[in-house]
Amino acid sequence: MPHIKLINIVGARPQIIKASAISRAIRKHFSKDITEILIHTGQHYDKEMSEVFFDELEIHKPHYNLGVGSAGHGRQTSMMITGIEEVLLKEKPDCVLLYGDTNSTLAGALAASKLHFPVIHIEAGLRSFNKTMPEELNRIMSDHSSTLLFAPTNTAFKNLMAEGFRPENSPPYTIDNPKIYLTGDIMYDNTLFFAGLAEEKKTTFLEHMSLVRNSYILVTIHRDTNTDDTVRLKEILVTLKTLAEEKDIILVMPLHPRTIVSLKTRLKDLYDELNHCKHIKIIPPVSFLEMILLEKNCKMIMTDSGGVQKESHFFKKPCIVLRNETEWIELVNNGTAKLVGADADRIRHEFLSFMYSHSDLEYPAFYGDGKTAEFILNEILLMFEKE
Ligand code: UD1
Ligand code: UDP
Repeated sequence: MPHIKLINIVGARPQIIKASAISRAIRKHFSKDITEILIHTGQHYDKEMSEVFFDELEIHKPHYNLGVGSAGHGRQTSMMITGIEEVLLKEKPDCVLLYGDTNSTLAGALAASKLHFPVIHIEAGLRSFNKTMPEELNRIMSDHSSTLLFAPTNTAFKNLMAEGFRPENSPPYTIDNPKIYLTGDIMYDNTLFFAGLAEEKKTTFLEHMSLVRNSYILVTIHRDTNTDDTVRLKEILVTLKTLAEEKDIILVMPLHPRTIVSLKTRLKDLYDELNHCKHIKIIPPVSFLEMILLEKNCKMIMTDSGGVQKESHFFKKPCIVLRNETEWIELVNNGTAKLVGADADRIRHEFLSFMYSHSDLEYPAFYGDGKTAEFILNEILLMFEKE
């Protein structure tokens, strides 16, 4: 089998976490076959949005950190493309591995495909069918720049077929003759691996937060449609605060810096009220092990995050999705996730129904067997073997 040089590109928090599943599988099973080089675009840079994951999840430090930071879409993406291009020209990898749908994903896809390095896309085929979401454009463009596409769900696989990708393509695979696979989800691999460790390493975390198992609700909000729209953000938070007070339940909110910026600059009074409310705990972003503990022990999750929606399923928790649509539609079809947008009545209705009647919910195995990273790496190696 040929030895291959693979460049992993990460930038945003969830990508760093996802990359740990691939790095771990390389270390465990493919260290003789694959050399991994990590580029961090620097899209996320606060300690608790980046460094904490490298330390805790045992990912080796990035070989290159482009230090791009925050900026408008065009400026941020173009700085990433420039930086990634330079590294690719220097390193001349055999392939470039991308995760998800962020600007870092898009920049990697454009830089690599234009230099004719094969792009491998993990989490291919996910669609919200809402092109006003920056992530939807990033997904479509990244998929259509890829040579190997790993779809985590049946729906994602079907979405790719609907866009003209053909499962029957045979090798050699190229950007014009791409291969699509139905896999599981590497975040399920991670959850299985880290859930036990979280309990072992963070024994006092919940206690330290004064949280009692099964008696609090975990909330995350970071999606631009919510944070950048003052009316939506206010409606969500006022509704949540009212419900928490009415039902005498704690809401724990590890908030993304983007949400804090919006609250501080546009909804200062509400932010102060939330901080003074004894039912609301706004905290800085937590580490992945801490997040796992918060998810595993909560009563319910309310979120607009893609990753947190799936993790609600891994931990068998009902989930209220603070969005109008989702890429993880199987959760909604299963009845364990409810789409409520930012609508006060819908939030209230689903909240009350999950609070008082969720004992009969079932959580089928939608996301594979926990060995998705191994499957993906094996297929990557086979591609080079067949060449
Ligand atoms: C990005 C992704 C989104 C993903 C999310 C994961 C895009 C277009 N969006 O959104 O799909 O769900 O990451 O968390 O790529 N900020 C800080 N410190 C940081 C990072 C960000 O303060 O370390 C603040 C800045 O004010 C910045 C804002 O958050 O302007 C938004 O950051 P950005 O990376 O542009 O987008 P996210 O909202 O994080
Ligand atoms: N996460 C975390 N700490 C937090 C919030 C989220 O470790 O304070 C993890 C979460 O468990 C999931 C991932 O980050 O694995 C999701 O990232 P995010 O919600 O930022 O982005 P999305 O998945 O929506 O792209």
